[in-house]
Amino acid sequence: MTDLSRRQVLGVAGATVAGTCLLSACAAPRATPQDDASAVAARGAGTRVAGLADVAVGGALAVDVDGHALLLTRPAEREVHLFSSICPHAGCKVAPAGDELDCPCHGSRFAPTDGAVLGGPAGAPLAQIPVEIQGSDVVLAG
Ligand code: FES
Repeated sequence: MTDLSRRQVLGVAGATVAGTCLLSACAAPRATPQDDASAVAARGAGTRVAGLADVAVGGALAVDVDGHALLLTRPAEREVHLFSSICPHAGCKVAPAGDELDCPCHGSRFAPTDGAVLGGPAGAPLAQIPVEIQGSDVVLAG
């Protein structure tokens, strides 16, 4: 086999493996917002989410708990809320946007206090995960 034909064979084999992996990833079931929230809540009461000072009063923060992308909001000094970032419309990742939470895919907007739909095509609120303030931390509530 010549160097050129060997490279051609390896290139085709590599493309086939990469194509298979892509197809597998596409076929993987996507977590629902409620499944995501339940998986996070199952980590147990007292699990640290973030430092209270990490999120400004009136702001929101994207946080990660064991690989789950979440949104922590702080509408008032001693009020915090935690949501799955999975959009209930079609599963895109919702992100902090000023004083609300917005989905970049189709424009759904959510309230930082209860995840209620403020606008857009989403037909359900963001899935909420109970949290509380413990000292200087925000933790999962029991
Ligand atoms: S996926 Fe979020 S608005 Fe469509």
